[in-house]
Amino acid sequence: METVLSGIRPTGNLHLGNYFGAVKSFVKMQDEFNCFFFIADWHSLTTHPHPENIRRSTRTILAEYLACGIDPEKAAIYVQSDVKQVLELYLYFNMNAYLGELERVTSFKEKVRKQPDNINAGLLTYPTLMAADILIHRADKVPVGKDQEQNMEMARLFARRFNRIYEVDYFKEPESFHFNHIAVKVPGLDGSGKMGKSEGNAIYLVDDEATIRKKVMHAVTDSGPTEPNQQKPEPIQNLFTLMALVSEPDTYNFFNDKYNACEIRYGDMKKQLAADINSFCAPIREKILAIQDDEDYLARVARLGAEKASASAEKTLREVRQIIGFRV
Ligand code: ADP
Ligand code: TRP
Repeated sequence: METVLSGIRPTGNLHLGNYFGAVKSFVKMQDEFNCFFFIADWHSLTTHPHPENIRRSTRTILAEYLACGIDPEKAAIYVQSDVKQVLELYLYFNMNAYLGELERVTSFKEKVRKQPDNINAGLLTYPTLMAADILIHRADKVPVGKDQEQNMEMARLFARRFNRIYEVDYFKEPESFHFNHIAVKVPGLDGSGKMGKSEGNAIYLVDDEATIRKKVMHAVTDSGPTEPNQQKPEPIQNLFTLMALVSEPDTYNFFNDKYNACEIRYGDMKKQLAADINSFCAPIREKILAIQDDEDYLARVARLGAEKASASAEKTLREVRQIIGFRV
């Protein structure tokens, strides 16, 4: 069975875009692949977060993934810093990673521009740590967004380079798995573009009913269609795209027919959309809130994940140490 691995940055809460664009596919993959999902807390140190932030965001993200249906019995869900073997592989890869190629990575150059007072070695070697995350489990497929493609190329480069230097055929090159073409792009409610944290237009899975309603009622619309069956401009299409995700087909068709007949009342549609988003989110939200406070459960899940991931990591490292020439 092929191995799938994905790292999740612990930044804020999950929104509908994350859910329909990624997490829903992760949940499906658990049944089809040997899955590793981990929270990249070491990676988050590149921006020097406060200890309490690390603890809180790790707990939050873990609770949210579990509430969405990631099953700790099926997948290994773990915290990166619980699997120390990754650090040893990171060191080996760093010995064969060159300053020039690391400096040329676009996301590094961007950080240099954005945080000129904190250009640390962790930022520079972000791709080697990510390669270690992936290759420690010898993952076949890595679900990532397009923005991670260069890091994936670096991971493949470090795998090939290791094989060449030690004259082995040990690491397989991990493949990027873009499910963006199967997963939907979830739009924002501000008229154009996608839903995103940094876009400031996200509906979070933990948002309560009143918050959801407020966000949806503020969605951008227009003065309405003037001709039957007219093409929908982007802000209106976005409302329909969201409705297709969370509402019953009958509801969608009802408002679609109204639109086509130039009889749509956006206020009614938004009220319905808000109610349906709430119905969709409510069970997940309740689970998040319950799990988030269950420290024992979270600790148990993290321990189980760490055990599974450490066993897999230790096996790779034993072989790598032998290949490099260390006593085993
Ligand atoms: P954000 O853009 O809010 O910072 P991330 O970059 O952390 O979100 O995204 C994590 C995952 O969620 C990625 O795999 C990304 O493709 C997916 N994702 C984020 N926003 C959307 C969206 N609006 N539609 C579809 N997928 C999304
Ligand atoms: N760099 C990824 C991001 O910013 C997170 C990440 C760290 C990752 N290690 C990984 C993703 C390994 C996939 C595989 O989103």
